[in-house]
Amino acid sequence: MKIIINGISGRMGSEVARIAKEGYRGASLVCGIDPNSETYENGVPCFHSFSEAGSFNADCVIDFSHHSVTEALLEYCVDKNLPVVIATTGHDEKELEIIKRASLKIPVFFSANMSLGVALLCELAKITAKTMPDADIEIIEKHHNRKLDAPSGTALMIADAISSVRKDAYYVFGRNGQRKRDKNEIGVHAIRLGNIIGEHEVIVGTDTQTITLKHEAHTRALFAEGAVAAAAFLEGKPAGLYNMKDMIG
Ligand SMILES: NC(=O)c1ccc[n+]([C@@H]2O[C@H](COP(=O)([O-])OP(=O)(O)OC[C@H]3O[C@@H](n4cnc5c(N)ncnc54)[C@H](O)[C@@H]3O)[C@@H](O)[C@H]2O)c1
Repeated sequence: MKIIINGISGRMGSEVARIAKEGYRGASLVCGIDPNSETYENGVPCFHSFSEAGSFNADCVIDFSHHSVTEALLEYCVDKNLPVVIATTGHDEKELEIIKRASLKIPVFFSANMSLGVALLCELAKITAKTMPDADIEIIEKHHNRKLDAPSGTALMIADAISSVRKDAYYVFGRNGQRKRDKNEIGVHAIRLGNIIGEHEVIVGTDTQTITLKHEAHTRALFAEGAVAAAAFLEGKPAGLYNMKDMIG
């Protein structure tokens, strides 16, 4: 499976390049896109933008870059009829709409967290929220101090999973001031420090008990492997919008 990496010079792009060079799941690297790249990186040609990149014999684009490049990324993929794995986070409404539109033409895998463990955490959080309809729910996420978006795309993904079974739920980001907690709010709290790769905790509490569900990423390789597995999953799939739930069946 031949892949193009968008954001190849970043922390995650480099990790995908590393495992592709090792042939993880039969992957091999074709080229990279990144405004900060050298002309040649990881043994393949790199371009500063999609407009500079020509056509390549590739099977999929894996995107770990910045959400502002979504339109250019998807124009390229639709034009070349290339499946794409979007692992970048922080998209605004307009960019989310562009992703949906592109998925009518090509297979698009879109997940704010490429780890199987987090997909399970979402499901467990959903079951817990449904089983304990009156419990208070708070989400705490922790990431390294270079992360741009807050709260994390994963925290929002977990909150969305919970609100799919709690119809009156709404989100409160951080909390301060003089106000009692409302029963329908889901508190979402972002912590930024040091070199934490990614931790997500869902705390579910009633007057009599507390349940804590927690996922910790130990290495970035986790997300890189998930992205390559998602690229393999897209092989031969029709146009559509796919996510981790489709992959874990
Ligand atoms: N889905 C997941 O599992 C998962 C896991 C980790 C990170 N992420 C997300 O992936 C993204 C990248 O994370 P990172 O830690 O590698 O960040 P990073 O800052 O280390 O790397 C981002 C790279 O994208 C490049 N970039 C910026 N604008 C670009 C453009 N217009 N075209 C192409 N490349 C561009 C930057 O030059 C940089 O090299 C973030 O949105 C992050 O939240 C997702």
